[in-house]
Amino acid sequence: MTEVAVVGAGLMGHALALVYALGGHQVRLTDNRAETLQRAPGLMATALATLVEAGEVDASWDRQRLSHTVRCITSLAESVAGAKLVVEAIVERPDAKRAVYAELERLLDADAILASNTSNLDIFPLLPDGLQKRTIIAHWYTPPYLCDLVDLCPGPHTDPAAITTVRDMATAMGKVPVVFKQMVQGYVANRLQAAMQLEVYRLLDERLVTPKDIDDSVIHGLALRIPILGIMAKADFTGLLLMQHGMKNRSYTPPVPRDHSDTLDALIDDGRTGVMSGKGYFDWGGRSPEELFRERDRKLLALKQALRRIRPMEGT
Ligand SMILES: NC(=O)c1ccc[n+]([C@@H]2O[C@H](COP(=O)([O-])OP(=O)(O)OC[C@H]3O[C@@H](n4cnc5c(N)ncnc54)[C@H](O)[C@@H]3O)[C@@H](O)[C@H]2O)c1
Repeated sequence: MTEVAVVGAGLMGHALALVYALGGHQVRLTDNRAETLQRAPGLMATALATLVEAGEVDASWDRQRLSHTVRCITSLAESVAGAKLVVEAIVERPDAKRAVYAELERLLDADAILASNTSNLDIFPLLPDGLQKRTIIAHWYTPPYLCDLVDLCPGPHTDPAAITTVRDMATAMGKVPVVFKQMVQGYVANRLQAAMQLEVYRLLDERLVTPKDIDDSVIHGLALRIPILGIMAKADFTGLLLMQHGMKNRSYTPPVPRDHSDTLDALIDDGRTGVMSGKGYFDWGGRSPEELFRERDRKLLALKQALRRIRPMEGT
């Protein structure tokens, strides 16, 4: 059992607190916004109830046990004091990360490991000298209590033992760590998602399709095969000659990277920021985030359990 502190209790932070709690660790969760911290126990309890209902987690896990295992603490100093693993899950802004790392350098135990959940930032230049050796990236996918992948990246000065410790903790919790030799910005999955997003924004901004057309194409086309074949095994089944011809006879020009999308900007200006605000690309019918997360989680669990039985095709 390790004392774990999670800094940032937003979409990822509260869920990571739950992951570490269920993994047998004692967790302290903090956020600099009081209302976010207050919301976290309800979100964790909802996720937990879904996991228990699906038989993924022992029924002895109830709200009371959860509240003893994950303590919500408003003070950053109090939440990280004595913690051996500090998970940073604050907003994805370099200035905010830099500021919190400066505070953590003063507050962390000498042997504590700092693990950032950053999606895309190279956080290592943002770290003070005192944290360089013991900081890694441990990047999870949402919801992390259902998605098992964890990307682990060392920085240029990271002690390899920090990676080994967090890798072993992840494995012991039944997760699937992928260890990178060095910082690979975007890892694998986020790079692939970023490439897809470029095409999505182009299709939307040029008004060629609707968001529903995109999701229909993914759900009924791309996605069906991915859980069984990934994309590399799928290429083997497609035949590599076709892949080679596809590269030579490219029938359209890939999108040029842009730093914004008119469609996305307009939605955000309208307050449509996604499920947390009730609307995004789609209108979620006034249902609460808790209710929507619960339905998503139930469906993901059913899929995960089916995939466990089916098992992916595996070449060597
Ligand atoms: N959302 C995802 O799907 C996802 C997936 C993987 C990784 N991540 C990464 O996880 C991190 C958090 O993302 P999120 O989606 O949970 O964001 P979020 O906005 O939901 O939560 C971030 C939280 O950090 C808090 N915060 C900001 N500064 C703080 C500080 N100094 N001290 C304590 N709390 C502070 C905010 O109040 C907020 O509640 C980001 O680095 C993001 O890139 C997100």
